[in-house]
Amino acid sequence: MAGQIPTQFIDDLLTRIDITDVIDARVPLKKAGRNLQACCPFHNEKTPSFTVSPEKQFYHCFGCGAHGTAIGFLMEYDQMSFPEAIHELAESVGMTVPSTQVLAPNPAKQNVYDLLDKASQYYVHQLQTHPQRSQFLNYLEQRGLSGSTIDHFDIGMAPDSWDSVLKSFGGTQEKIKQLNEAGLLSNNDKGRNYDRFRNRVMFPIRDRRGRVVGFGGRVLDDSTPKYLNSPETTVFHKGHELYGLYQARKANRKLERIVIVEGYMDVIALAEKGINNAVATLGTATTPDHLKQLLRSAPEVVFCFDGDRAGRDAAWRAAENALPLLGGNHQLKFMFLPDGEDPDSLVNQQGAEAFNSVVNQAKNYSDFFFESLEARVDMSSMDGRARMVENARPYLRHIPAGVYRDMLEQGLAERAQTSTSVLHKHLEKLTENKTKAQQKSPSTSAGFSPIRMAITILVQHPSLHSEVKEFDKLALLSKPGASILVELLETLHAQPHLNTAALLERSRDTEYASHLQKLAMQSLGLEAEALKHELIGLVGQLQQEAVADRQAYLTKKSFSELTEAEKQEIKGFK
Ligand code: UTP
Ligand code: MN
Repeated sequence: MAGQIPTQFIDDLLTRIDITDVIDARVPLKKAGRNLQACCPFHNEKTPSFTVSPEKQFYHCFGCGAHGTAIGFLMEYDQMSFPEAIHELAESVGMTVPSTQVLAPNPAKQNVYDLLDKASQYYVHQLQTHPQRSQFLNYLEQRGLSGSTIDHFDIGMAPDSWDSVLKSFGGTQEKIKQLNEAGLLSNNDKGRNYDRFRNRVMFPIRDRRGRVVGFGGRVLDDSTPKYLNSPETTVFHKGHELYGLYQARKANRKLERIVIVEGYMDVIALAEKGINNAVATLGTATTPDHLKQLLRSAPEVVFCFDGDRAGRDAAWRAAENALPLLGGNHQLKFMFLPDGEDPDSLVNQQGAEAFNSVVNQAKNYSDFFFESLEARVDMSSMDGRARMVENARPYLRHIPAGVYRDMLEQGLAERAQTSTSVLHKHLEKLTENKTKAQQKSPSTSAGFSPIRMAITILVQHPSLHSEVKEFDKLALLSKPGASILVELLETLHAQPHLNTAALLERSRDTEYASHLQKLAMQSLGLEAEALKHELIGLVGQLQQEAVADRQAYLTKKSFSELTEAEKQEIKGFK
């Protein structure tokens, strides 16, 4: 991805722009010492933990862990693609992105967005003007929707015709090709194109930025399929999009809670009754990708399911998918509707209060987790309780190490009527991993390996590279991270003016990208002057280690095994 835009250009761009301007224009920042702060736009909070460093040209939230460069910020906050973010930033400082063919903000994709937007307006227009509109309007009225809700969700109608979209937008072969790319046509086996959506109520699906990326279309009667959705296209991925998220965020930028329901009509019926925080997946289970987005939009996410068997099973699948995202500052909950009801039928028959009271009784994740596990065994017997613990084990392993997992383990011990120490013997492997994980991320420099510390100093203070005059032996080290350190030093010697942000962007597509980003925000608690001496000392020490390692390696070899070059090398050591 990054390879398509010259690295040199990105380096220059990142020294020209100022991340504080970019963010301040979207999230007003206040000065706090050397940095600037605000309440984090990626999670809900009352005291600011979102910090922007003008020096590193990097942002970091101590609350939710969000972090990145100005490019990353635009990608996250404005949901831009990588090239889009580059273009936006370049424009703001009057730079022109060198146009390589592949790059220019993907005109094909832009055409698809434009076409989908026009199609959405077309379907809305049909609902206002088409001779057959009254049966659609009657249907929507009978489902309890007011004109303002129809407008709010841009609901439209696809006429009962094989070619109304085709005729309106498919004037040339090129246009027909675009309609196909947008997922608006179907083709028969003779290759003939016709309108995919016919005689259906049309629900445009918007991404988080509000762009139309696809449609769901519902029949007016009992014919099948009840809902027809856009196929996967370059801009539409069912596992990623959430129906109603754009509207929910528009209604309230600081959502306290989001409820995930099953269908389009559930989202819309709830909004009709003033409940504006529901979203729906598009006929799929909730993916971890969905959940990540939701937890960034609100601190509490409530899964809403039917109370029947199928609903319980779906809830358990959702609970499994959520394991890697547990802990932190957010809450996941589960609510179950009375058998046979969906949110739409419940609010229509019993009103918003009835729905809200079920939401307020939602079960905590841990309660649902344990109750589901307990339901599979006989908890009154010791054997049953032991099996419960066994069954829980594989799940616990997927939860990030931390307070939340500790407390779930404790809860498990209590419910199984055993002690945490007995339990821990069983969960031994798990705990070992946890201790390792904890050791891996100390919050200060203490406990860092020399290589890790040297990398951290360089990433945070790239200009200090000039203090390192010799590093030719480092490549001999076989320790983890040595090659990254060498690469950093080489890059900085070739490009002495790179800042932290530029270094991080250069690593964007490498496997150590997230590792470097984490190091970039470690607090070292020392001033640049002290770090300079530390860096010089560390590299010196590593150089010596590398030589010693090499000597040990060569002297282990028998003389006859040594190559001529290696023999020369040994002489050089003495
Ligand atoms: P439901 O059938 O529960 O939808 O399917 P609903 O919202 O209650 O429908 P109404 O009230 O009869 O209008 C839930 C979701 O599953 C997907 C759609 O995303 C729908 O909103 N679905 C359902 C399909 O994709 N295709 C179908 O044929 C049915
Ligand atoms: Mn329904």
